[in-house]
Amino acid sequence: MKRKKLVAGNWKMNLEINEAIHLANDIKAARGSFNCDVLLIPSFLFIADVKHIVYATGIHLGAQNCSIYENGAYTGEVSAKQLKGAGVEYIIIGHSERREHFGENHNVLRQKLEIALKYGLKPIFCCGEPLDVREAGKQKEYVLKQLQESLFGLTAKDFANITIAYEPIWAIGTGLNATPEQAQEMHAFIRKELADKHPIALQMRIIYGGSCNPANINELFGCPDVDGSLVGGSSLRSKDFIAITAAAK
Ligand code: PGA
Repeated sequence: MKRKKLVAGNWKMNLEINEAIHLANDIKAARGSFNCDVLLIPSFLFIADVKHIVYATGIHLGAQNCSIYENGAYTGEVSAKQLKGAGVEYIIIGHSERREHFGENHNVLRQKLEIALKYGLKPIFCCGEPLDVREAGKQKEYVLKQLQESLFGLTAKDFANITIAYEPIWAIGTGLNATPEQAQEMHAFIRKELADKHPIALQMRIIYGGSCNPANINELFGCPDVDGSLVGGSSLRSKDFIAITAAAK
């Protein structure tokens, strides 16, 4: 089965409401040209507005985080159930920024995966090594441990709803992207390890993230195991984001 590419814009904690609306409208206007699945992942605050803009366009909506709790007295948290009810389809889990700045360890990630899947959200599970691990040549061991700790206990049905994002930390927001060879090697490795658990992994999308831009995306998308991209900085500029979608055939 051929895997359709996914181009996802992770807006992170950027933009103000008017800018978010403007960006979503620009992307909506380009939808006739899309040959891939397109996903917008705004701040919680803009989800309702973006949902309204992309409604019935085929553009997908995601969230950047959810609570490990079901509901109740958890001030400041947003539940998976609330997100689902707001029209969210995908959810980022395990982003390196949440692991680093919010202390999210594999126990937390596992709880988030389970609650997201329970409420019918599709997790985008992020993995990837820091620079010192890459320099020591230990990136496969490092990423395998991330997969083992968070994903290996899940079922084949769960796998079918998960997208993997390989995001080497040294490439996130740095302008240093992985070479196509480095990306392909890691994506093929991740696919093999997951497929040894559940063969359905052959159909899972494994997308690349880390300084994707219109200049480097063609080469990355040329790799057989790169099924799309998780785009940060370049997703905030409609022209760049649309150019990235255009590279996905
Ligand atoms: P970047 O971010 O494209 O700005 O490197 C990617 C990500 O963190 O998902």
